[in-house]
Amino acid sequence: MDLAFWRTKWARNEIGFHQPTVHPALSAHWPRLKLAAGSRVLVPLCGKSHDLRWLAAAGYEVLGIELSEVAATAFFAEHGLTPTIDRAGPFIRYRTVQTTVLCGDFMQARQAEVGLCTAFYDRAALIALPPLMRQAYVQVLRNLLPPTARGILICVDYEAAVQPPPFIVDATELEALYTPWCDLLPIDRQPADVKGLPAFERIYDLVVRGS
Ligand SMILES: C[S@@+](CC[C@H](N)C(=O)[O-])C[C@H]1O[C@@H](n2cnc3c(N)ncnc32)[C@H](O)[C@@H]1O
Repeated sequence: MDLAFWRTKWARNEIGFHQPTVHPALSAHWPRLKLAAGSRVLVPLCGKSHDLRWLAAAGYEVLGIELSEVAATAFFAEHGLTPTIDRAGPFIRYRTVQTTVLCGDFMQARQAEVGLCTAFYDRAALIALPPLMRQAYVQVLRNLLPPTARGILICVDYEAAVQPPPFIVDATELEALYTPWCDLLPIDRQPADVKGLPAFERIYDLVVRGS
């Protein structure tokens, strides 16, 4: 799952992961984070998700990071938004008043371009990555998020022989990745589908601990 894999997916419009509506777990569970209005929310590997728009409409400042410019361009066009476009370090930055998408490799994300995010939302980001990249991803997230930052993480389980992504990231691995720096609380399990096959999504609430 290198960068070329995802660029090709977007170029061919093979984006079965993209949901036509806001993810139900976001609207159901986001309020439990009790964020201050205007908080900046990091959405890693954001695609062109409607969840970005939901977060902005809920009054947050949204900072998505996405490799594909096809995805970023489509997101703003599909929501009738006209972003300003400039460079920000290693990223191409698409920016409107409430929503910014940094186009480039999440692994290069630094505080300088991302700013202070006090919350994050991970749907199909961690689980899009193979094992070693998951460790790198979590390390970048850890570097970006301050103590007390909160987030929602959605993972998926399925039994059929599905070619990843998405990867099944079990509870043991999640604990190894997150509990050294976060409190990790399972909050829900919901039926879902993966590539048209029955699946379950596990939803987690995370809080970054002080060091
Ligand atoms: C499974 S999709 C999920 C997209 C989005 N979170 C959603 O719910 O629709 C994974 C996304 O991560 C992007 N991606 C993969 N590797 C990336 C990286 N290293 N940096 C930034 N984006 C990446 C892909 O282009 C793809 O849009």
